[in-house]
Amino acid sequence: MAKDVIIACDFAGRRQTLDFLDAFEGHRKPFLKIGMELFYAEGPDIVREIKRRGHPVFLDLKLHDIPNTVKKAMRVLSALDVDIVNVHAAGTIEMMRAALEGLTREDGTRPLLIAVTQLTSTSEERMQRELLIGAGINDTIVKYAQNAREAGLDGVVCSPLEAAMVKQACGPEFLTITPGIRFADAAKDDQVRITTPARAREIGSDYIVVGRPVTAAPDPVAAYDRCVQEFLNQ
Ligand code: C5P
Repeated sequence: MAKDVIIACDFAGRRQTLDFLDAFEGHRKPFLKIGMELFYAEGPDIVREIKRRGHPVFLDLKLHDIPNTVKKAMRVLSALDVDIVNVHAAGTIEMMRAALEGLTREDGTRPLLIAVTQLTSTSEERMQRELLIGAGINDTIVKYAQNAREAGLDGVVCSPLEAAMVKQACGPEFLTITPGIRFADAAKDDQVRITTPARAREIGSDYIVVGRPVTAAPDPVAAYDRCVQEFLNQ
């Protein structure tokens, strides 16, 4: 199974994104995460351009709608030739199955499909009080991950500290993509449940998502190389 470091391209627009990527000219091509901000600002063209430059892409749009709408939207995203896309597991097993169907191309290939369980910004207290979910947050994460597995998805996004729990419930092949990564000697920013790239490897993350520790570093290429070195041991 391919493990990799994914850089979160949390930039407001095309120019900033491409300037950032220019620094990697002639270097190992990083796997990139494109989120809602950049996608809504620039549309599918930014995805095509980044793919043309040879980067694998995780398109982090977290779809959640009725199954038929998600299926049709996924068909469009699949045609962009991205490598990973995601949905909210809260959309139900039926919605996740529809997403998978929409993603699968005529030749049988498709991007990896990952589910968001509970966002790490949702506390157990809020989940119980506002969403009326009576179970504990860890039980909810495990149940949503199991639902994603039952629907045929490839894995979930979760905190690195939850990766072992998810693997135990869903099997070692079920992918865990984990944000919340910081170097041991760096600021936490607004992240709470964090760990280092080396520790994420030990816990069993398949992909780590790293944003500011790379994008805001004085030397982003060196910071990326440090992530690769710690996480992939290379
Ligand atoms: O800058 P930083 O490393 O904190 O960026 C982490 C990235 O992962 C951001 O794009 C953030 O939106 C995303 N993310 C997260 N926690 C989640 C899901 C996604 O931090 N549970």
